[in-house]
Amino acid sequence: MPTVNSRKYIMNFVKRFALLSFFMSLALQGFSVPAKLVKNDYGATQLAVNGAPMLLIAGELMNSSASTKESMQERWQNLEALNLNTVLMSVTWQQIEPKENVYDFSVVESHIKEARARNLKIVFLWFGSWKNGVSGYAPDWVLRDTKRFARIKNAKGENRPALSPFNKNLLDADKKAYCALLSKIKQLDENFGTVIMVQIQNEIGLLDDSRDRSEIAESEFKKDVPAPLLKNLSENFSDISKEIAEQWQNNGKPLKGSWQTVFGNTSKNLADEIFMAWHFAKFVEEIAQAGKKVYPIPVFVNAWIVWPNQAPGNYPSGGPNARMLDIWKAAAPSVDIFAVDNYADSYKSKCLEYMRRGNPLFVPEAVALWKGDKTSAPAKAFYTFAQNSAICFSPFAIDHSAYKDNLPLKNAYALIKNLSPIILKMQGSKDLVGFMQDSDKGGESFDFKDVIAHVNYGYQFKGYGLIARISQDEFLVAGTGINVSFESKIPNLKGMSYGLIKEGKLENGKWKTLKYLGGDEAFAGIGGVRIPATYLPEDAKECDISATIIKIIPVESTSAKNSLIF
Ligand code: DGJ
Repeated sequence: MPTVNSRKYIMNFVKRFALLSFFMSLALQGFSVPAKLVKNDYGATQLAVNGAPMLLIAGELMNSSASTKESMQERWQNLEALNLNTVLMSVTWQQIEPKENVYDFSVVESHIKEARARNLKIVFLWFGSWKNGVSGYAPDWVLRDTKRFARIKNAKGENRPALSPFNKNLLDADKKAYCALLSKIKQLDENFGTVIMVQIQNEIGLLDDSRDRSEIAESEFKKDVPAPLLKNLSENFSDISKEIAEQWQNNGKPLKGSWQTVFGNTSKNLADEIFMAWHFAKFVEEIAQAGKKVYPIPVFVNAWIVWPNQAPGNYPSGGPNARMLDIWKAAAPSVDIFAVDNYADSYKSKCLEYMRRGNPLFVPEAVALWKGDKTSAPAKAFYTFAQNSAICFSPFAIDHSAYKDNLPLKNAYALIKNLSPIILKMQGSKDLVGFMQDSDKGGESFDFKDVIAHVNYGYQFKGYGLIARISQDEFLVAGTGINVSFESKIPNLKGMSYGLIKEGKLENGKWKTLKYLGGDEAFAGIGGVRIPATYLPEDAKECDISATIIKIIPVESTSAKNSLIF
């Protein structure tokens, strides 16, 4: 007869065995938890996929590329070759629901299978009621029935080429189609986790006017600002945008009143834009909420940015742009991220505009090919992930010929992928910095408390990279077109010597040195790191992107200053 203790022991064993077999059977089925947002030790928000955080080293396809499997056939290989781990691709309402309640998910199904076979993740872009401020992707049966699906109107009462968000019929129809899509994704993918996020609508907002002038919109505009919005803005007053806070204050900071009374101004139609933002955001909130009940993967919306000196209507009024971030946050708590389509000339400051109120940086579109920029993607990738703790960086039109066999991007993505365990661990820490050369900059410096890192550019191409302090006396330097030296701030140890300089990469999470750098390739061992570490400076090529660990040895200062000579 077993004793009480031995019975307990046996029961525990059986329980453990059952639990283990349960998890093993899930593993055999390819079980995966849906992707979700998590925080690392430094508070950076990251996307965990199948339980582990990942950087979305991504690219967004041109708008029509994902419309058929045939069109995708020639593209998959190149996406893989570019070392992407994630592809952002559209799913259009007009294609998946050509007739009301008749769905066709064949293309979606094919994309998921193809991506999975290549170990690529997918972020689907839901081109529903709006794309880029108009309604070019709504199905025929929606566009034709202007009674059931009213349009936004201009001041003359004419229809605009955009559906009105003040319309419950549209919300119901869009939401139903979106949920059908998510239910299909769940059915095809919940055991695999290939589809990791969804973008709801695309660059939503109203073009060519600051607000909808239809009868229903006009009557809404005359009503009081909804109390929950003012409550939310009031509670977050010290964190909301200065422009909104000041305008509200200038109007006497009323807690009740019409949109015009509360937010009205004489320039840039702030009240109109806030009004549209609230209604667009509420519309999206309902869709996001309903979608999460079906399949709870994180969702985001993307913004057409506010360009300098533009007024709402020049850009989509009421979109989730930086000016409207606070309104969207109040109205759409089920939207996880407010992403920026960052084509700005001042890329860095545009990133910062979106890194407020806990919003993590996510760049689904970048690099303006149409302005002739065919080279900035690798630099922006390093900068965005390392300096701004971004979840995603994704050049737009990744399947354009500009990126075919594009060695700099391919190599940059390979290196970021290789270093991602370090980047993910350190995002948000002051010991990780990212940088890229602005046109006229000769260099910049980064403060690591007791040590300053000096980054110098000056190659025949623009430099960029990252520096991570991986231990007290070791720095990982990665990128290209850079010379990096270190200065000690430690009292009595203001001189700097260097130990081993190791070029290499991570292998199974551990550093593997592929070459020790010294002499001609490393400023004689007294001047820091050069990347690329070529014999002659003119041998340096833009696609030579690499990683080096350098050991610093602070010592009593000597009278001779290190000189960066070869
Ligand atoms: C921004 C849009 O979001 C994209 O879909 C695309 O149309 C680009 N503009 C144009 O290059």
